[in-house]
Amino acid sequence: MKTLLLSRDDIETVARLLLAGELVAVPTETVYGLAANALDENAVAKIFAAKGRPQDNPLIVHIADKHQVYELAANVPDVAKKLMDAFWPGALTLVLNAKTCVPGIVTAGLSTVAVRCPNHPVMLEIIKAAGVPLAAPSGNRSGLPSPTLASHVLDDMDGIIAAIVDGGACNIGVESTVLDVVGDTPCILRLGGVSQSDLEHVLGIDLSIEKHGGEKPRSPGQKYRHYAPNTPLTVIEDGTAVSDGFDSKVVLCPEERAHLYKNSIVYGRLSEPETLARGLYAALREADKRGAVGIVAVCPAGEGFAAVRDRLHRAGGMG
Ligand code: TXA
Ligand code: MG
Repeated sequence: MKTLLLSRDDIETVARLLLAGELVAVPTETVYGLAANALDENAVAKIFAAKGRPQDNPLIVHIADKHQVYELAANVPDVAKKLMDAFWPGALTLVLNAKTCVPGIVTAGLSTVAVRCPNHPVMLEIIKAAGVPLAAPSGNRSGLPSPTLASHVLDDMDGIIAAIVDGGACNIGVESTVLDVVGDTPCILRLGGVSQSDLEHVLGIDLSIEKHGGEKPRSPGQKYRHYAPNTPLTVIEDGTAVSDGFDSKVVLCPEERAHLYKNSIVYGRLSEPETLARGLYAALREADKRGAVGIVAVCPAGEGFAAVRDRLHRAGGMG
């Protein structure tokens, strides 16, 4: 299959492809997604095949307007409404009770559905033009770092999907925060673009974070290794002593630490935490291309870096 490279001028073509059951990679403010019509089981099945994604890992359904949530979810609790008002469109995914119209392949057979209204003008135009909710995981091959540029998607999906819409670099750079609001108390299933403290501030309660691992996590995706480059990756805490062994490796680090290492790739600045999230996945992909014997990633310390710390630790197999 020839993968078309499209832009925001091609929204009608994108909508036509999606309604014909094809896969299209789309920009969002977090990472690029691999979209299909969420109500078309055959189209959604293609997502799992293209990514090599385990069938038991459910997908996020994307909507263009918060009122669309009622088409997909039943018994939407007040706490969800409060969060939708505060954070949508944005990098927050809510896990809600699914209506029966949501195909089982989207929810991986769970009784819940994850829904997000993304904050990206091109993605919102695409959802509106298609007129259907779009199921979209991150647009990487399963296990690799998520794509934050159209070229990253092309590296993973060329010849496998119908089209890629180039919407430029993703502004946030890590995936959405996933919050389960089905139980008695909301629980963070995945840290991401919206911080724990911002959620707690709006809700006026302390939130817990679901631990990774285990056979049956509440968020099935948490049990798989993720975000990892092909080159062996070691994650070290910022402040760890520099060792000679690093000379043969490529070191991913904040700009403030680059002078410490012989062969470094800067992925952002400690003084502006959002730049580290924005640059992380591109740096991991770039490091892979350098062909070094190993990658060392310097992990920043502190609550402001929670999503970056989570991704690095899981990429390094320490999640
Ligand atoms: O920012 C994002 O969330 C990006 C963009 C494209 O929107 N999407 C994304 O999708 O990261 P994906 O498939 O890579 O990650 C979705 C996560 C997985 O960990 C999955 O297990 C979890 O959300 N998830 C999906 N549906 C769920 C459900 N019903 N219950 C619990 N977890 C769910
Ligand atoms: Mg993913």
